[in-house]
Amino acid sequence: MVENSGVLGWFLLNPKTPPFASHKTLFAFLWVAALASLFVWQRNTISGFLVLGGVPVQPPPKLRPVVFCLTEFGGVGDGVTLNTEAFERGVRAISKLGNKGGGQLTVPPGRWLTAPFNLTSHMTLFLAPDAVILAIQDEKYWPLMPALPSYGYGREHPGPRYTSLIHGQNLRDVVITGHNGTINGQGQTWWTKYRQKLLNHTRGPLVQILWSSDIVISNITLRDSPFWTLHPYDCKNVTVKNVTILAPVYHAPNTDGIDPDSCEDMLIEDCYISVGDDAIAIKSGWDQYGITYGRPSKNIVIRNLVVRSNVSAGISIGSEMSGGVSNVLVENILVWESRRAMRIKTAPGRGGYVRQITYRNLVFKNVRVGIVIKTDYNEHPGAGYDPKALPILRDVRFINIRGQGVRVPVRIQGSEQIPIRNVTFQNMKVGTTYKKKHIFQCAFVQGQVIGTISPAPCDSFDRYDEQGQLVKHAASQNVTDIDYEI
Ligand SMILES: *[C@@H]1O[C@H](CO)[C@@H](O)[C@H](O)[C@H]1NC(C)=O
Ligand SMILES: *[C@@H]1O[C@H](CO)[C@@H](O)[C@H](O)[C@H]1NC(C)=O
Ligand SMILES: *[C@@H]1O[C@H](CO)[C@@H](O)[C@H](O)[C@H]1NC(C)=O
Ligand SMILES: *[C@@H]1O[C@H](CO)[C@@H](O)[C@H](O)[C@H]1NC(C)=O
Ligand SMILES: *[C@@H]1O[C@H](CO)[C@@H](O)[C@H](O)[C@H]1NC(C)=O
Ligand SMILES: *[C@@H]1O[C@H](CO)[C@@H](O)[C@H](O)[C@H]1NC(C)=O
Ligand SMILES: *[C@@H]1O[C@H](CO)[C@@H](O)[C@H](O)[C@H]1NC(C)=O
Ligand SMILES: *[C@@H]1O[C@H](CO)[C@@H](O)[C@H](O)[C@H]1NC(C)=O
Ligand SMILES: *[C@@H]1O[C@H](CO)[C@@H](O)[C@H](O)[C@H]1NC(C)=O
Repeated sequence: MVENSGVLGWFLLNPKTPPFASHKTLFAFLWVAALASLFVWQRNTISGFLVLGGVPVQPPPKLRPVVFCLTEFGGVGDGVTLNTEAFERGVRAISKLGNKGGGQLTVPPGRWLTAPFNLTSHMTLFLAPDAVILAIQDEKYWPLMPALPSYGYGREHPGPRYTSLIHGQNLRDVVITGHNGTINGQGQTWWTKYRQKLLNHTRGPLVQILWSSDIVISNITLRDSPFWTLHPYDCKNVTVKNVTILAPVYHAPNTDGIDPDSCEDMLIEDCYISVGDDAIAIKSGWDQYGITYGRPSKNIVIRNLVVRSNVSAGISIGSEMSGGVSNVLVENILVWESRRAMRIKTAPGRGGYVRQITYRNLVFKNVRVGIVIKTDYNEHPGAGYDPKALPILRDVRFINIRGQGVRVPVRIQGSEQIPIRNVTFQNMKVGTTYKKKHIFQCAFVQGQVIGTISPAPCDSFDRYDEQGQLVKHAASQNVTDIDYEI
């Protein structure tokens, strides 16, 4: 994956590379390269670990001075026995080792049913191949926790919310890793109860880490979360690398992949995400609560991902962004079979800002709407929000965008209240499925297009040539050409 996405990146950066006679050929090549890299990546992993009749050759590595196995604390991996106490005992043992470099809790192959439990600092949770941590489905086992301060609200219901299956707060130096073991939220019963309106509290995430720093999540699979899958909240220095996140793409409500929320210094790379909502959604709190809490998401790099979102978007910012979002780089991303590829969403009442956002080397394959900026996403935590708290949206760049089978490549919908400023497009060529006009839709947006882009941009942009010479001034920044019928 890593080597090959390098190749992918190279060709995206050099779209005029000679061997490719036409863009069609180039795209076909890119797509094959992207898929091939995915398969090579997955095959390597499997052949590396599961040989000799399914017996794992590679023993769990020793990643901390002290290593415990879950079975030492009475764990039984039969898929039926409840292991909550075994996990809690393991965590307690590790919590006593902090000043000695911490400890590792290895989860061996097996199916380890558990209720929610807490992590501790200086801890590595290691999932062996074929180790599956299974969440108990009965909500009676899921404790309630206070609402997050920047949401003021459970999110789906007022008041408290269910805790996450794996939870941590006020921690330092936590690693969740493995040889591609799985944390399975068994979300099906939660999704059904949510749809039938049988729940009185907001569903719990799969993994949630609050007010913590130096967090690494790598080399594992997360699947079927009841709610958002991985939710780092007000954390610093978080790395998510080589993680597979899965949920049904349909009828698995709010199963976002990763939600960096009021987080600083975060890297997400080399992941495959296919879920029932946004693959990634960068957030920073909701309306008056988020404004008061005032913690932005900033310095975030998201790269080398393959993502799919049937109902929402590949990579989103918002809609809860009231603490602000800035300095985000999104690069080398393949979005396939999705409703939207990249989306920034906000509304009056949010306050905050979204700025210094760069998207580079993106490939869209069969997506309905490629790039979306939406300023009327009117979902609010009750009635107490200030409609005059207007978010600022500016300094957004799109560089090297390719695509095929896209219905509406661009829909940027600012408003008189929330105009969008300084948007740049450079080097874009997206093949469309719908040969009508108005597939580059704009309203209240100001910015520039550098070089030629396809499809042709709306008249809201100043046009420059490749050498940076102004070719044509924008005609009509405030004209509205948004058409949801397409
Ligand atoms: C890890 O396991 C998941 C689900 O079992 C699988 O889809 C994925 O290909 C595996 N990832 C790697 C890197 O082997
Ligand atoms: C986890 O820690 C939080 C915060 O200290 C606490 O409120 C909660 O009860 C703990 N949960 C469990 C399942 O032990
Ligand atoms: C990704 O994780 C798998 C195990 O889940 C491992 O075999 C593989 O080497 C990892 N790849 C990278 C680039 O770390
Ligand atoms: C929700 O509240 C109702 C009314 O108090 C109660 O009958 C029901 O059991 C609750 N449901 C859950 C899942 O807690
Ligand atoms: C970030 O966290 C990683 C993993 O714990 C650690 O190795 C690194 O030193 C941290 N970086 C900073 C700048 O603190
Ligand atoms: C992922 O697994 C590979 C193969 O075991 C290992 O080399 C690498 O260090 C791991 N990466 C992380 C970030 O844990
Ligand atoms: C989403 O899934 C439905 C049902 O499988 C399918 O009909 C639809 O085409 C999918 N949408 C996208 C954008 O892939
Ligand atoms: C426009 O945004 C770019 C980054 O995308 C930034 O470098 C530049 O300074 C901004 N220009 C203005 C006039 O704000
Ligand atoms: C477009 O609308 C914005 C915000 O309402 C305003 O500041 C700007 O002057 C208008 N521009 C034009 C060209 O009318």
